[in-house]
Amino acid sequence: MSGKKERFGSRTAVIMAMAGSAIGLGNIWRFPYMVGEHGGAAFIVMYLLATLLLSLPVFITEVTIGRRSRKGAFSAMSELHPGHRIWEFVGLLAVIVSLLINSYYCVIGGWSLDFLLRSCAASFVRMSPSEVTSVFSQMSSSRWEPVVMHLSFMGISTFIVAHGVKAGIEKFSKISIPALFFLIIVMIFYSVTLPGASEGLKYLVKPDFSQVNGETMAYALGQSFYSLSLGMGAIITYGSYVHKEEDIVVSGAGTAVFDLTFAILAGFAIMPAVFAAGIEPGAGPGLIFQSVPYIFSSMGEEVPVISAAVSFIFFLAIVVAAMTSCISLIEVGVTFLGEKFNLSRKKSCCLLFVLCGGLGIVCSLQPSVFDSLDWFCSNVMLLVLAFCFVVFAGFVMKKEDVREEITNAGAKPLNVRLFNVIYFQIKWIAPIAIAVILVTNFIL
Ligand code: PHE
Repeated sequence: MSGKKERFGSRTAVIMAMAGSAIGLGNIWRFPYMVGEHGGAAFIVMYLLATLLLSLPVFITEVTIGRRSRKGAFSAMSELHPGHRIWEFVGLLAVIVSLLINSYYCVIGGWSLDFLLRSCAASFVRMSPSEVTSVFSQMSSSRWEPVVMHLSFMGISTFIVAHGVKAGIEKFSKISIPALFFLIIVMIFYSVTLPGASEGLKYLVKPDFSQVNGETMAYALGQSFYSLSLGMGAIITYGSYVHKEEDIVVSGAGTAVFDLTFAILAGFAIMPAVFAAGIEPGAGPGLIFQSVPYIFSSMGEEVPVISAAVSFIFFLAIVVAAMTSCISLIEVGVTFLGEKFNLSRKKSCCLLFVLCGGLGIVCSLQPSVFDSLDWFCSNVMLLVLAFCFVVFAGFVMKKEDVREEITNAGAKPLNVRLFNVIYFQIKWIAPIAIAVILVTNFIL
């Protein structure tokens, strides 16, 4: 890529951009559902353990690889270990997986945009439950509507990335992350005051330790990886924009705290409302697109304006959260095209818009393609790639180089003290645990 490599402006910028990538659809529909189905507070404890023991070391690994090489996901590892095609292949795989995920992720982004526009028109107010449910099925199965929305969503996200790391990604994340927290807190106030909301709170917090087993641990880890955007090269790519003086451990922990806090807040915003409306908490994007509008429609009979406004706030939060994640996925492709083919940022963005837009159209029209891509990317590839990254940092990179990045060449006393523990996690605990989970995922 021509010109000097850009950097994030400050620690806040690093954490906001990374939290932007992390906070997304995974927090809004997947986390609350997982918590409820897998033991309530017991799942949250497992999720915390998985994050602390495995996801954080993997996160630190990805930032280390990115910052040390100053390259995006494709060339980072081959830059640090030249002459070994295998690492270039792993990098290429990360780019491909990020583009595949982006294609279907933007389809859900498009649905959210569609519902945001419908909320503007207060179109859910006073609809009957069956009418509300059919809005989603009609919209997602219509020919042109989801495609137009998907391309619009993707167009806006690509436009932000085209503006560059500082003027585009950093600026957007610094505004949108605080806004997201504000929006979700407004939602919580609305949600917990609904009659019958306490059932939803119980669903989220009641610990059920009988659910704690290997399988749930695997779910907790998978969710934690997905939520922190690991195993796609997105964090390697963002890591390459992190200043040498920045504390990698603090940035990782800060991002994880933001991500988990938002996931828990989203749970408190959604589940009480779902229970208040007497809806079964089901898995998948359907929960937000079929159940949540129903809440606004039924409540809308008494307070139509408030109901329409909260519905708008809710879908705006989803659109913004999905967009900051989508941006990090596009950036993986942009750095690849820049580094491999010397394409400018703007040209790369146009090309990616055409590529992912096209694939997204297929996903939008073919639900089976959508489901298979989601399964393959988030259950298999994410773990395979995370495994490769930790093996690279633990066995291919020199220990001294890893130490230099994590401790900032000895300038961070706490990290110096923690280094041996973190390195042990990267070298042994993470690869073994990921391999075990990968195998059990296939057997289960
Ligand atoms: N972390 C995002 C979410 O929770 C998903 C994502 C995965 C985004 C990988 C970028 C890279 O929705």
